[in-house]
Amino acid sequence: MIVKNSQDLDGLLRIGQICGWTLQYMLGQVQPGMTTRQLDRLGAAFLKQHNARSAPITAYQFPGWTCISVNEEIAHGIPGDRVLRPGDVVNIDVSAVLEGYWGDTGATLLVPPVQPENERLCAATRDALRAGIAAARAGVPRYEIGRAIETVARRGGYSIIRDLGGHGVGRGIHEDPTIFNYYSRRDRPPLTEGLVITIEPFLNRGKGRIATAKDRWTLYTVDKTLSAQYEHTVVIAGDSPILLTQVEGQFAH
Ligand code: CO
Ligand code: CO
Repeated sequence: MIVKNSQDLDGLLRIGQICGWTLQYMLGQVQPGMTTRQLDRLGAAFLKQHNARSAPITAYQFPGWTCISVNEEIAHGIPGDRVLRPGDVVNIDVSAVLEGYWGDTGATLLVPPVQPENERLCAATRDALRAGIAAARAGVPRYEIGRAIETVARRGGYSIIRDLGGHGVGRGIHEDPTIFNYYSRRDRPPLTEGLVITIEPFLNRGKGRIATAKDRWTLYTVDKTLSAQYEHTVVIAGDSPILLTQVEGQFAH
């Protein structure tokens, strides 16, 4: 969507902040020995407290309030009986709706003991998100976001999961345009003032090829390598976007 007035911005900020707080809260609750369903229930209770509804349930009848993806799983992991273990790489993606406005944010957490190469992957993905945000200026071609993300990924020696990317958001969870995480010469329409999008790089330690699991939701890497994702919802505004899902003490500044 395009932000037209202060009512739009206020509504987007309210749900964006709720998504950000929910994510922050869930990240803080991760404990080895808990199931992903338990973690999801905590997120569900937090969202309900704030009168927000789950976007995946509302839009897609997804079987969980949030998406929780572990290790070789990249995205759209269904909360369930999987038990979190020491050393796991856990992605939590929170998207929700309030008063007709939708927000979307995500982050990857390392359950101790942390392997240095996983920490490096997560740091590079946060850097890629920051670079994507910095490139998201009104009037520049959309491919500048992907170019910035791709540059950081390459520098770190990571592949990009090309089948996943950012997207328009605001009046629905997935709107046009797609925001590629790589440079695509043809994607040159400009980012326009007030456009609401997610920026969400997915960096991978393997070849970046993905497949859908038998549950028809969970996406995983074909070569079973680890990935990381960090995501913010932003509004294009002059030289630096408004970060709707950024909350205090969070991963990207
Ligand atoms: Co998301
Ligand atoms: Co998203």
